[in-house]
Amino acid sequence: MRLMLRGGTVVTDAQAVAAEVLVEDERVTGVVAPGSAVAEAFASSADRIVEASGRYVLPGGIDVHTHMEMPFGGAFSADTFETGTRAAAWGGTTTLVDFAIQSRGEPLRQGLDRWFAKAEGHCAIDYGFHMIVSDVNDDSLVEMDGLVEEGVTSFKLFMAYPGVFYSTDGDILRAMQRAAGNGALIQMHAENGIAIDQLVAQALARGEIAPRFHGSTRPSILEGEATHRAIELARVAGAPLYIVHLSAAEALTRVVEARDRHQSVFAETCPQYLFLSDADLAREGFEGAKFVCSPPLRPAAHQEALWQGLATDDLAVVATDHCPFCFKEQKELGRDDFSKIPNGLPGVEHRVDLLHQGVVEGRIGLTRWVELIATAPARMFGMYPKKGTVAPGSDADLVVYDPRRQQTLSAATHHMAVDYSCYEGRTITGGVDTVLVRGQVVIDQGRYTGHAGDGRFIRRGLCQYLA
Ligand code: URP
Ligand code: ZN
Ligand code: ZN
Repeated sequence: MRLMLRGGTVVTDAQAVAAEVLVEDERVTGVVAPGSAVAEAFASSADRIVEASGRYVLPGGIDVHTHMEMPFGGAFSADTFETGTRAAAWGGTTTLVDFAIQSRGEPLRQGLDRWFAKAEGHCAIDYGFHMIVSDVNDDSLVEMDGLVEEGVTSFKLFMAYPGVFYSTDGDILRAMQRAAGNGALIQMHAENGIAIDQLVAQALARGEIAPRFHGSTRPSILEGEATHRAIELARVAGAPLYIVHLSAAEALTRVVEARDRHQSVFAETCPQYLFLSDADLAREGFEGAKFVCSPPLRPAAHQEALWQGLATDDLAVVATDHCPFCFKEQKELGRDDFSKIPNGLPGVEHRVDLLHQGVVEGRIGLTRWVELIATAPARMFGMYPKKGTVAPGSDADLVVYDPRRQQTLSAATHHMAVDYSCYEGRTITGGVDTVLVRGQVVIDQGRYTGHAGDGRFIRRGLCQYLA
């Protein structure tokens, strides 16, 4: 199959340039000047030409933080790998990295195999796994080495959720020491869960049961404190560290301090922390439950700090933390007690578009947009240059993006298997026209043309910022 994307502006993390993209089977084989002899010859024998004039041609988006079919507080997140990866494709994401979970008392292998069983044969786009380590012990530490060899090269630990995912500082230190030896990247959910549990119990005792108390019991100071502690533990262990879903200015300050002394500390934020706030969590009645996630949505003032962090690269990646729970049947579990509301928001479909608003509003440049949504995640998690760029030899994961289209986000039109949108009624600028996954057109001018099972498992390498 020979396919050409003609007339577009190819945008990578390095440049935006008028060029034709030549695809043969699963790979990009050329990025050539418009009108060149190579372009003309290819066009005359191509099986298909996708017109891209007036539009950008981007590397497919890479979302390195999703939770499909994740068990949480008596519910499972509503997107399966089939529905969630299809929704991702609609939004211009062609690879995701989901979190496999080790339950307490089981080997890592058992948890990882459970996630392979959920994903294999069901994904519309390529996928990899990080591993959540809920039980740090001698055996799971040894198992980490084997998983790294298999392409599962990053491990998430939690300073929150005591009794479920929580690890002590000692456990965290041991996992980091192991990572320092085997090259893995430790990802941290940095909130002080022990203190938070006290604040939650005190709030409930006062009769504070509404969704907004989810926010007030998880103050940003405790995210800053945990981030600092994680950074210091990583410093002692001599291991790199990646802070997931950073939401608070206090936490960013700690990351900046570490980076300024050249410690290998990286951080990701998510669209919800850039576009939503604690005012959404405080919406009338039980509406705020739609916005319950951890860390919680912060006062809007934090958003400026986060945009600044994106501009300076102290925040290196934007991922979604997609973890959708239906409002009607699942968020409902916490109607009389905010602490029982399943934590998580839908978002996998809208990350590329929402970050494009940063370009439209002049907060980030075009190439930085592409770096944040595709190139940096590929490098951070060992997939570059197979993924994350448009270059000869790379996988033909490509997006034709119309920067002028207006679209209004709504649960009535999105493709995620969840009954609400956090951005209901919001009109945004830009939209995906065509999406290719390894050379196969999966979104074709408003039609899904892919299949469950098109996506392949990606054996990832080590973090490429640590060379
Ligand atoms: O609220 C959230 N973020 N749910 C997903 C689990 C996690 O901590 O990432
Ligand atoms: Zn987390
Ligand atoms: Zn998450």
